Parts: sequence; C-alpha cells; structure tokens
Amino acid sequence: MRIVAEHLNYTYNPHSPFATQALKDVSLTIEEGEFFGIIGHTGSGKSTFVQHLNGLLRLPSARKRRKKKARGGKLPETVLRVGDFDLADKKTDLRLLRKKVGMVFQYPEYQLFAETVAEDVAFGLKNFEKGLTDEQVALAVKAALEIVGLDYEAVKDASPFDLSGGQKRRVAIAGVVVTRPEVLVLDEPAAGLDPLGKRELMELLHRLHEQWCKTVVIVSHDMDEIAENCTRAAVFSEGEIKYVLPPRELFSHTEELRALGLDVPLTAKLCLALKARGVDVACDYTTEGFVRGVLALRKGGKP
Ligand SMILES: Nc1ncnc2c1ncn2[C@@H]1O[C@H](COP(=O)(O)OP(=O)(O)OP(=O)(O)O)[C@@H](O)[C@H]1O
Ligand SMILES: [Mg+2]
Repeated sequence: MRIVAEHLNYTYNPHSPFATQALKDVSLTIEEGEFFGIIGHTGSGKSTFVQHLNGLLRLPSARKRRKKKARGGKLPETVLRVGDFDLADKKTDLRLLRKKVGMVFQYPEYQLFAETVAEDVAFGLKNFEKGLTDEQVALAVKAALEIVGLDYEAVKDASPFDLSGGQKRRVAIAGVVVTRPEVLVLDEPAAGLDPLGKRELMELLHRLHEQWCKTVVIVSHDMDEIAENCTRAAVFSEGEIKYVLPPRELFSHTEELRALGLDVPLTAKLCLALKARGVDVACDYTTEGFVRGVLALRKGGKP
C-alpha cells in the first residue's frame, strides 16, 4: 500500500490560546516496500504525522475545509491515502484500515495489560476479526510470537509483567502484527533499549519487513539507525518537511542537518574527519559501506 499525503495540516487545540500548529503543509509519498525513516528534533511533528496514518488523528472534515475556503483561506486540497483507504473521507472504515496499518507507539510495553502473554497478543486480533475459533486465534498468536523472536511455549502462559523490558516490547509488537498489517508504523521502536536490544529489535523489524509487512515506517532519533536501515528518510522541522532523501544523500548535508538541531551518523563524522585530512572516502553511510570505501582507497582503486 502506497502512502500519499499532500498539503496536510494539523493544529492541536484549535481556536484556543493554546493552539499549536504541529503540521504545516506536509506532502510526502512513501512507496510500498520501503523501510522509511522519519527524523526531526523533539516537537517537530513526527508523532503527529504518523498518527494520521491509521486514522488516530483525523483530517478536518470536508465541510470545515470548505467553510475555511469560503472565508477566503487559500487552501490546496488535502490528500491522505494509504493504499485504497481515503482518510479524507469520513466514511472510511477505520477498523479495516487499522488492521492493515499497524501502529506501535513509543514504549508500547506500557500498554500491556492481560494476565498472560497469549491473551495480550490475542486481544488485538479478536478486536479486529470476530468469529475466529480458539484454534485459529492460538495459531495466529503463536506465529506472531515466533516472528518477534519469542518461544511460544515458554512465554504464552507467563504474565507479561514478569518478562524483561526487551521481551515486553516484543510482546507488544506481536500484539500489533498479529493482524498481519501490510504497513507497520513504529514510533521510536528502539527507545530506551541497550545497544544489543536495539540491534535485535532492528533485526526483528527487518524480519517483519521481509516476511509479513510490506512497508515499515519508523520514527527515530538515532541517525546511525536510519543510515543502516532505511531506504529513505524524511526530516521534519517545526511541522514542515525539509528533506526526503536516501541516507547516502541525506547525510552528506551535515551542516544543514546540524542547523536543524540534528546529528549525523558516526560514519558521516568519520568521513568528514578523514576529508579534513585530505582523504575522500566514498560512502553510503552504512558501516559496511564505510569499510568498503576505506578498503577501496587502500587498494588505490575506486570504490
Ligand atoms: N496532545 C497534544 N496537545 C497539544 N499539543 C500537542 C499534543 N501533542 C503534540 N503537541 C504539540 O505538537 C507539536 C508536535 O508534536 P509531536 O509530538 O508530533 O512531535 P515529535 O516530533 O513527535 O516530538 P518528539 O521527538 O518529542 O516525540 C509540538 O509542539 C507538541 O508540543
Ligand atoms: Mg514523538
């Protein structure tokens, strides 16, 4: 499912002294099959944007938009489509949309609540698909726990609260992917994990991307994570999109990113430090690409 947003605006608490315009004329297309990154400093609108993708935040109704236009506001048509779902249409079936577009919030383990892991994972599925037999539910739960790297027999009857932090997060992700969404959106999926936990989590996301969910969208503050994993990334700043580029192009804009309060990956810093010493490494900013670039120089050839 292709994601198309055009001229998306969003204001929290409109018509009040606390009004905050969180999205300003955001246009972005994410192709089916991408592993897409969303970056930007705190408060730049990342979460607000992704919460639109499964209809959690809604567009202003067509009637309101017409009224605003009639009052003289020059508003280009807002478009928000995920596959065939038209989110500008109030009649869109949000339940079906949410089955197809899975959303994993920041620290999703805080939302675990059931007595057992299996019940927790089953909850999402039963919510979306009525009339499944116990056996069908158990099979789906087993598959979801296995794809997130947990041993079904070992954890199914455990209390989610007795698991480690990393395991809890996996259970929470299993509870979202159990409906087999085509698009999986994760807000800061690796936040708060240690380096090994982060690496394992990214491996899990790639496994899901290869086997279950055609498109993966992650919000991240970690530029190394973006450089290593994403096909493209969008940079948000003050509710606007500044760049949409593949990491190998994006992270050559070091100065511009720093001006937006963002860092660059370690590989980009190493390339810059080498460049300052007269050594130009051709690099896509993955670790592997950096190593290839350095080796190519040693051999005196082109990378
Ligand atoms: N529920 C809310 N009510 C009012 N204002 C909000 C609400 N949620 C977010 N905002 C404001 O909207 C703007 C964008 O917030 P958003 O949460 O989308 O940013 P973010 O890029 O996800 O930030 P972070 O990196 O801190 O998660 C900010 O100015 C924020 O203060
Ligand atoms: Mg956020």
